[in-house]
Amino acid sequence: MGCNRNCGLITGAVIGAVLAVLGGILMPVGDMLIQKTIKKEAVLEEGTIAFKNWVKTGTEVYRQFWIFDVQNPEEVAVNSSRIKVKQKGPYTYRVRYLAKANITQDPETHTVSFLQPNGAIFEPSLSVGTENDTFTVLNLAVAAAPHLYPNSFIQGVLNSLIKKSKSSMFQRRTLKELLWGYQDPFLNLVPYPISTTVGVFYPYNNTLDGVYKVYNGKDDISKVAIIDTYKGKKNLSYWLSYCDLINGTDAASFPPFIEKTQVLRFFSSDICRKTCIHFTSSFSTCKP
Ligand SMILES: *[C@@H]1O[C@H](CO)[C@@H](O)[C@H](O)[C@H]1NC(C)=O
Ligand SMILES: *[C@@H]1O[C@H](CO)[C@@H](O)[C@H](O)[C@H]1NC(C)=O
Ligand SMILES: *[C@@H]1O[C@H](CO)[C@@H](O)[C@H](O)[C@H]1NC(C)=O
Ligand SMILES: *[C@@H]1O[C@H](CO)[C@@H](O)[C@H](O)[C@H]1NC(C)=O
Ligand SMILES: *[C@@H]1O[C@H](CO)[C@@H](O)[C@H](O)[C@H]1NC(C)=O
Ligand SMILES: *[C@@H]1O[C@H](CO)[C@@H](O)[C@H](O)[C@H]1NC(C)=O
Repeated sequence: MGCNRNCGLITGAVIGAVLAVLGGILMPVGDMLIQKTIKKEAVLEEGTIAFKNWVKTGTEVYRQFWIFDVQNPEEVAVNSSRIKVKQKGPYTYRVRYLAKANITQDPETHTVSFLQPNGAIFEPSLSVGTENDTFTVLNLAVAAAPHLYPNSFIQGVLNSLIKKSKSSMFQRRTLKELLWGYQDPFLNLVPYPISTTVGVFYPYNNTLDGVYKVYNGKDDISKVAIIDTYKGKKNLSYWLSYCDLINGTDAASFPPFIEKTQVLRFFSSDICRKTCIHFTSSFSTCKP
């Protein structure tokens, strides 16, 4: 019997005490090491972990759409009745899966600028239907024409073209057409060289979003990925007051060491404005 029960207990206690002391010392050291590593690896420059994930977004980014289907188009057109709509969705697309292009570092301002190629792939498993689902919606070209051309003579001409093309205030279109574009029969008859394709996001594929210029975090990691300018400007020149500011990231990434009380701000070029989220996960508009 080389080791009795007491001896085992004492050995155990000694080893435990040594480990506890080591742990006590190493815990802050470990924290420091982790913080240091994160500060280094979160910088957006060639060679860091963050950079690789940032060039081509590592996680999947989805964009969801809900469409209002008009239930009483005839009544509205004939009797000016109050419009009745039914919301349908979500229809989900995977976006931001293409690698950023023309990435250029500016060591003086600690920023990096880039272009984001646009692309959207339909995701049937996260959608209530297919891209062929059809909706009754406002005829965008017909509705916009009288506002663009207030002259009554031109309106008369346009009206005859609208009738000739059998267009009216409402139209039936598939989800794919509405979002990504369709040939408009009325605009096709207009005897001027105008764009005849209409769609909420047309054109999208093979287009580029930006230029974005964001902080690379080299001098201050709390600013990493935050947008400095979009298309060369700090304001959108579209909204009044603080909504017009481009304040935050592009939502694909945020600076490290964020507290739960902090508000995450981001900018979405598709809706042409900034917005923000709170930790409660409720979605709300930003306060200045
Ligand atoms: C318009 O209103 C009239 C009178 O209330 C009604 O008879 C007719 O059915 C309505 N038309 C449509 C398309 O709802
Ligand atoms: C992106 O870079 C390529 C090659 O350097 C250049 O030809 C192109 O004009 C750039 N695109 C934009 C929008 O700056
Ligand atoms: C856009 O490109 C994606 C990926 O190639 C493709 O799945 C999608 O159908 C395209 N959308 C349109 C409207 O052409
Ligand atoms: C949608 O319609 C197109 C053309 O009619 C057809 O080729 C395609 O298979 C349809 N897609 C689905 C998912 O039904
Ligand atoms: C941008 O908008 C903010 C808030 O409205 C305003 O204070 C600022 O002067 C604007 N900057 C420019 C360059 O227009
Ligand atoms: C963005 O908003 C925060 C909080 O209101 C503010 O502290 C910060 O200065 C803003 N950034 C810019 C560029 O206006």
